[in-house]
Amino acid sequence: MIGRALLALLPLVGSVLGQTAAGYTDPDNGWQFTGITDPVHDVTYGLIFPPLVSSGPQSTEFIGEFITPIAAEWLGFSMGGAMLDNLLLVAWPNGNDIIASTRYATDYVQPTEYDGPTITTLPSSLVNSTHWKWVFRCQNCTSWSGGGIDTTSGAALAWAFSSVGVDDPSDPESTFQEHTDFGFFGMDFSTAHNANYQSYLSGTPTSPTGPPSSTPTGPTTTIPITGPTIAPTPYDYIIVGAGPGGIITADRLTEAGKNVLLIERGGPSTGETGGTYTAPWAAGTNLTKFDIPGLFESMFTDANPWYWCKDITVFAGCLLGGGTSVNGALYWYPTTNDFSTAVGFPQSWTNHQPYTDKMTARLPSTDQPSTDGQRYLEQSFNVVSQLLQGQGYSQITINDNPNYKDHVYGYSAFDFINGKRGGPVATYFQTASARSNFHYMDYTLVSNVVRNGATITGVQTNNTAIGGNGIIPLNPNGRVILSAGSLGSPRILFQSGIGPSDMISLVQADPTAGPKLVPQSEWINLPVGMNVMDNPSINLVFTHPSIDAYENWADVWSDPRPADAAQYLENQSGVFAGASPKLNFWRAYSGSDGRTRYTQGTVRPGAASTNTSIPFNSSQIFTITMYLSTGITSRGRVGIDAALRAQPLVNPWFADPVDKTVLLQALEDVVSNINTVSGMTMITPDRTQTIQEYVDAYDPSTMDSNHWVASNRIGANSTVGVVDENTLVFGTDNLFIVDASIIPSLPMGNPHGMLMSTAEQAVAKILALAGGP
Ligand SMILES: Cc1cc2nc3c(=O)[nH]c(=O)nc-3n(C[C@H](O)[C@H](O)[C@H](O)COP(=O)(O)OP(=O)(O)OC[C@H]3O[C@@H](n4cnc5c(N)ncnc54)[C@H](O)[C@@H]3O)c2cc1C
Ligand SMILES: *[C@@H]1O[C@H](CO)[C@@H](O)[C@H](O)[C@H]1NC(C)=O
Ligand SMILES: *[C@@H]1O[C@H](CO)[C@@H](O)[C@H](O)[C@H]1NC(C)=O
Ligand SMILES: *[C@@H]1O[C@H](CO)[C@@H](O)[C@H](O)[C@H]1NC(C)=O
Ligand SMILES: *[C@@H]1O[C@H](CO)[C@@H](O)[C@H](O)[C@H]1NC(C)=O
Ligand SMILES: *[C@@H]1O[C@H](CO)[C@@H](O)[C@H](O)[C@H]1NC(C)=O
Ligand SMILES: *[C@@H]1O[C@H](CO)[C@@H](O)[C@H](O)[C@H]1NC(C)=O
Ligand SMILES: *[C@@H]1O[C@H](CO)[C@@H](O)[C@H](O)[C@H]1NC(C)=O
Ligand SMILES: *[C@@H]1O[C@H](CO)[C@@H](O)[C@H](O)[C@H]1NC(C)=O
Repeated sequence: MIGRALLALLPLVGSVLGQTAAGYTDPDNGWQFTGITDPVHDVTYGLIFPPLVSSGPQSTEFIGEFITPIAAEWLGFSMGGAMLDNLLLVAWPNGNDIIASTRYATDYVQPTEYDGPTITTLPSSLVNSTHWKWVFRCQNCTSWSGGGIDTTSGAALAWAFSSVGVDDPSDPESTFQEHTDFGFFGMDFSTAHNANYQSYLSGTPTSPTGPPSSTPTGPTTTIPITGPTIAPTPYDYIIVGAGPGGIITADRLTEAGKNVLLIERGGPSTGETGGTYTAPWAAGTNLTKFDIPGLFESMFTDANPWYWCKDITVFAGCLLGGGTSVNGALYWYPTTNDFSTAVGFPQSWTNHQPYTDKMTARLPSTDQPSTDGQRYLEQSFNVVSQLLQGQGYSQITINDNPNYKDHVYGYSAFDFINGKRGGPVATYFQTASARSNFHYMDYTLVSNVVRNGATITGVQTNNTAIGGNGIIPLNPNGRVILSAGSLGSPRILFQSGIGPSDMISLVQADPTAGPKLVPQSEWINLPVGMNVMDNPSINLVFTHPSIDAYENWADVWSDPRPADAAQYLENQSGVFAGASPKLNFWRAYSGSDGRTRYTQGTVRPGAASTNTSIPFNSSQIFTITMYLSTGITSRGRVGIDAALRAQPLVNPWFADPVDKTVLLQALEDVVSNINTVSGMTMITPDRTQTIQEYVDAYDPSTMDSNHWVASNRIGANSTVGVVDENTLVFGTDNLFIVDASIIPSLPMGNPHGMLMSTAEQAVAKILALAGGP
């Protein structure tokens, strides 16, 4: 019954619980309950406890009631506020009777009958043409296997609602499907003890003024009083998604004094943010998987990779920091060309330098991440520099000269800080969090914006405890900013009735999302999801006797080299202070279509896979990944399927054959002088296959670089773009997007550096735009 999500929400109970129980009087029997009425389903849940005693054990029973419209096929209640390991009460009508049982679950499966409590259905229960009502006594109900409540203090309770009937209504042990809705509320049990408890049970009339210990007493003649739903606070700006785009936007808006809510569907990441997911060898420290750079490769081999978004079919991080908490942290300062009109930016965006300067002032790059200033595991750097020097490349410090990207190589640059993952979470998020006008809500999923035509009035969250319906409103002139990523923001737009009609129709057909969709007359047709880009990337695998392949990173999580682990734990230095990439290089090509395209290479010890007939020593393998970057023309499409899973619909790699020709040329060039590097052997592809054959046979799904951009690209009008030069969604008054989806074309390098400069510039334009809060 009460679903998986319920348990996950529990850490939030103190902060975002929307409803709190209050006193009310049942108009049918005059009993004074403490409880709530859920405003969505209009179901009342109430409890009455016997008076407290001053000595000896407190009573272990209570009176409870559910009063509900007949739309509720069954109702559930958790005395501990969660599904697992708690006393659960379940009831439904059967003819004129109420069928009820106590249940228990130790896993997210059908809860089974639980013995111990005694429940007695009381005479004021009823079933009529519009409602059913279960009034009951529950004895031996304040403690249960593994838990209980303290009736002198308060706790969270949970309810579950289903619009789908149980399988056998006459059988108290009937099975049923998962609830269709659920919610939480807080109750101070100490105010719910009632001196008339025994009279209620015995049917003796009670004094009409005998109050429950809670005050004020509700009027005695009206319908149950709704518990005071804590009115959801309106905000100047609501930002959806705490990836790099959302975090930077939130920091700059709060710096400007705006009242900002940042909503994130996932939970904490690094230790500094409350994350606790540590490797066994780092247990007891704050050095989580997301802190330790050397654990990057283990992101892809984890037995329980809970941090990936489960409803996006390509890799996307669903936790604080988004992609920047799980990525390789390769960090490139943008080039002038990245913001040029040639790649699709409006003229007003071309002076990126002041914004890039703001970013680098907050977050400088390092190509020497170990705290002791030494470089570790650099053998692949040495081998490939020999190779590239033979091709006329020069070694530079790459971020010292961002525009210089032809025939250059250098040490890989990262946004690590003090030997740990840095990025926007360690910088912008910290300064934002220190401001009282910054509000952060995690484990909260936004499905859609709430709008009245072109005007957005709030966002719909999945937490119905907020305001009773999960909607968080905006202040007058307030604005919503979507920062849910290149696949996440399009999905929110579709669910808001914005995008191509084929996508919105899938939302319309969904049983949960459909009813929340605006009518078709209000759909806004924009090219959402169209024009998406990602770098095609192809791996070449080599061996060289000097290489230390580091067990191909297979042991870093559970069985690291002891000295390296100890060095990192003590000093945040050594191999674990760096991620796997060691060298990056770029080269420009002229295509047969007259366009200039750039290729990027990334070199690392180890390999994702090998396919070879050449015998080799797996301790000596390393990879060169070649990407096609700026100048690429291929575009694809992202969207959703009928289950609303976000995914590529049309692959963006090699849609244009010239893109493929250029990348193939780059692959052939990079190994053209391999014979000059003594001991270097290419094992994949091997000598039975040409590079051309290798590229022709390459599985497109493994060409994905996780660098999705342009699904909501900025553009001159709603034919070519989704947002205008102020990042305002066309056809809306106050909906903006700041994430990788607005970038019109792939930048020169791995994108998050260029994206963070984009966010700095976007938020400056939003603040400058008239009409806001
Ligand atoms: C495996 C991997 C490796 C990468 N390596 C690199 C690299 O080395 N260097 C580099 O520059 N780039 C790299 N990238 C790309 C980079 O991380 C992304 O470009 C960047 O994170 C995009 O930022 P964003 O703000 O657009 O979205 P994201 O980072 O995706 O953040 C979106 C956030 O919104 C939240 N969210 C989504 N939907 C909702 C919703 N409905 N309600 C509430 N919250 C929601 C998500 O949980 C997430 O926190 C990598 C990406 C991946 C996946
Ligand atoms: C909302 O969704 C998030 C992300 O899936 C989840 O962690 C959370 O528990 C959900 N909240 C509720 C109230 O269902
Ligand atoms: C009370 O319930 C528990 C199970 O929660 C059971 O073990 C115990 O026997 C019950 N006590 C009585 C007196 O029925
Ligand atoms: C059915 O019972 C409920 C709860 O007591 C009451 O509010 C409602 O008016 C009743 N409906 C009819 C048609 O009597
Ligand atoms: C971990 O971080 C938290 C929050 O910053 C801090 O309170 C705690 O002392 C830290 N623990 C260790 C072991 O450093
Ligand atoms: C940590 O650094 C200090 C100072 O350089 C050094 O003496 C010590 O051996 C290092 N610890 C480990 C475990 O490597
Ligand atoms: C492995 O390489 C051979 C040729 O060397 C090729 O025929 C085969 O398709 C490759 N397998 C995969 C999975 O790429
Ligand atoms: C494989 O390489 C490792 C590391 O260079 C080396 O120690 C080992 O002896 C090599 N094994 C063989 C069989 O050559
Ligand atoms: C939209 O912008 C594109 C690119 O600037 C332009 O070619 C096109 O004519 C414009 N369309 C409309 C309807 O203005």
